[in-house]
Amino acid sequence: MTRLGEVLARAVRERHALARDELAQLLEQTDPGARRDIYAAAYEVKVRHTGKVVSLRGIVEMGNVCAKNCLYCGIRRDNRALDRFQLDEAAVLEAVQRNLDLHYGSLVLQSGEIESEAHTAFIERLLRAIAARAGEALGITLSLGEQTGETYARWRAAGAHRYLLRIETSNPRLYARLHPADHSFERRRDCLRLLRACDYQVGSGVMCGLPGQTCGDLADDILFFREMDLDMIGMGPYIPHRDTPLGHDIPFTEAYAASRLALGLNMIAATRLYLHDVNIAATTALQALADDGREQGVLAGANVIMPNVSDVAYRRRYQLYENKPCLDENAEACRHCLAMRLRSIGETINWDRRGDSPHYAARNQRPHG
Ligand code: 5AD
Ligand code: SF4
Ligand code: FES
Repeated sequence: MTRLGEVLARAVRERHALARDELAQLLEQTDPGARRDIYAAAYEVKVRHTGKVVSLRGIVEMGNVCAKNCLYCGIRRDNRALDRFQLDEAAVLEAVQRNLDLHYGSLVLQSGEIESEAHTAFIERLLRAIAARAGEALGITLSLGEQTGETYARWRAAGAHRYLLRIETSNPRLYARLHPADHSFERRRDCLRLLRACDYQVGSGVMCGLPGQTCGDLADDILFFREMDLDMIGMGPYIPHRDTPLGHDIPFTEAYAASRLALGLNMIAATRLYLHDVNIAATTALQALADDGREQGVLAGANVIMPNVSDVAYRRRYQLYENKPCLDENAEACRHCLAMRLRSIGETINWDRRGDSPHYAARNQRPHG
């Protein structure tokens, strides 16, 4: 057996079985034959844990007001080229109803980061209204940034089950280069711990292909996912945005897109091969790099897709990166498109099911102590 074959066989057999330099070697692969083998091994592990099934979460982009100023993001506070919006309760509930009508089984409420009592109470009211309408059958995920432990606890009590908060990179020095000085890596990491203490299913992740980031950094990110005992992973390639300090002078060429897509897929596969039983998303950023990017993500080990259920009227104002897909396709069109695409790779959809993380279920069965 070749060396790669031995590494993959070991990783398929047992989780946490790869060393840091072995993870980095998987991430570095550019050879098409080797990449095919890596993705096939990761897909085998995905199928073992979640079947040939993809769970969906409709994303509601509730508003693009953000207090943060991340150097890579198109809706950062200092981007003056952007009209800001915030949906009211009725508009969010309309999108929630759309999600129920589409039978997606889970929902993600996402917006820029706002820390205020008014906002906390608004989300709380919203969660109670959604729970009254949908009950426990609908998985409810929040993606609302860094908050206090009290806020996380209030939202959990009001009906949220899961929380997504990307660490963006587990390398504090790289984190400092991607964010203004008042953004704190430690606070971000502490927030993940607070979320766990509130019994959320906790999701995090990173961007890959950031300027200055190495495959060693990405291998460390995967070890960080384990250390934090995460339930869900959402990762995507970094895609430059012209109205940002980080992205304004990075040309977005076809070769750039192809190399970022390959790295993003390698990262999904290596994460699946190391962690085994977590939920991993094939993110929209993959679809921004290739029409079939999300399907490629599933075949490299992802088991979750997050289609947009926001009103098309607002989608242009929620572009974290360029080339965002489906700006004009409404949720119904995307549902049809996605069902067809998944059918074409032999996967079915987990309609009307929450699709909770198997890792979370396993943790809660383990004896405490
Ligand atoms: N390219 C790719 N992903 C991005 N995000 C923000 N800006 C970009 C970009 N330019 C991601 C961050 C954030 C998530 C909501 O979107 O990882 O956590
Ligand atoms: Fe705000 Fe998130 Fe964009 Fe940072 S990445 S500017 S926190 S929306
Ligand atoms: Fe939106 Fe294909 S997923 S058009």
